[in-house]
Amino acid sequence: MADIVRYTPDDRRAVDALYRRVFGNDSADASRLRWEWQYRHNPNNPGGTPVIWIAREGNTLVGQYATMPVRLQVHGREVEASWGMDVMVAPERQRQGIGEVLFRTWDRNVGASLGLGLSQSSHRLFRKLHWPEPGPIPCLVKPLTRRAINRASWPEPVNRLVSALTLPFVKVIARSRPLRAEMAIVRRFAPEFTAFWDKLAPHFEFAVRRDAAYLNWKYVEAPHVRYVVAALRRGAELQGYVVYRHLQEPRGRVTTLVDFLVDPDDEAGMKTLLRWVDREARAADSDKIRVFCLHEGYRRVLRRSGYFQVKSTMEFTVKVNGVDLPPTFYEDTLGWHVTLGDSDQDR
Ligand SMILES: CC(C)(COP(=O)(O)OP(=O)(O)OC[C@H]1O[C@@H](n2cnc3c(N)ncnc32)[C@H](O)[C@@H]1OP(=O)(O)O)[C@@H](O)C(=O)NCCC(=O)NCCS
Repeated sequence: MADIVRYTPDDRRAVDALYRRVFGNDSADASRLRWEWQYRHNPNNPGGTPVIWIAREGNTLVGQYATMPVRLQVHGREVEASWGMDVMVAPERQRQGIGEVLFRTWDRNVGASLGLGLSQSSHRLFRKLHWPEPGPIPCLVKPLTRRAINRASWPEPVNRLVSALTLPFVKVIARSRPLRAEMAIVRRFAPEFTAFWDKLAPHFEFAVRRDAAYLNWKYVEAPHVRYVVAALRRGAELQGYVVYRHLQEPRGRVTTLVDFLVDPDDEAGMKTLLRWVDREARAADSDKIRVFCLHEGYRRVLRRSGYFQVKSTMEFTVKVNGVDLPPTFYEDTLGWHVTLGDSDQDR
């Protein structure tokens, strides 16, 4: 059986080679670009070192489970948790139990093990191991132009007809609305964002700690994508923020609202954040805005602001260890704040 040990820098070449075999050259090149940032610079790394588990048979590396440590607010406590990612087993050694040993080793060593956006094989394995599955994370879309409602699976004449029929409706949804508070772009997250998180944290039954160190690492220093951050203020006081980016997809231009935070009871604040994103999306010529959001309070405001829930494939699995939880904990996710920005899904 394979030995499971912690990664050391001497493993780097063998991990790269295995990644190339399992995920292909393009993914391996993209992972290389992110690697130092993603695994070495994470401010939540305990002892400052990456938390990656390696499966080894003699001198041969046959698998890895890499993780992204985060602090997690869960049921009134803060625990050391991590997102599992880039899990892989050498093709000739798959389905022989190595993945299971890696998953269990990770889970034994963390206060909560979290998975987002799973591949079919890892999703099946999580299920086989009975990890609770509160997902998928709902996906909501706001149309801004006639191209927003096109589908790749529909023939072109159908797409044209749907565009024409829905245009008046899209125009009403997409019309510009006034901002009700001051919004401004910020270049870095200042310490006030940590104070803002500390104030809001008790509102959430489940959410990753969004302090300034985490936010700067995740959204300002990421080498592979460029985000825009805008903050909401009333007077001098920080009262919310949004993180978003614009991207070209095969069927049009999309603005993704990757992360946000505002008091869930502050409906006017949430609306102002969304209206700001509307303006930015229109200025970037986007056909739609997309957001992944689990929290029911936020989703209610999203729906009132012209967003529609669409099918989501963003699987989400969580296992909390060592905290007394009510029996309904994993079913009642109304107060859980999870977005696309969590884990490493936005690549
Ligand atoms: C996911 C992965 C690490 C699991 O490792 P493993 O050593 O094969 O897993 P185990 O042998 O411990 O467990 C096998 C179970 O995993 C699931 N599984 C593994 N490979 C699978 C596949 N190709 N299709 C469907 N389910 C699969 C099944 O539940 C399987 O149980 P079964 O054999 O009774 O049906 C491995 O399949 C892998 O490297 N996959 C490719 C990379 C990948 O998708 N990584 C996940 C990124 S999120």
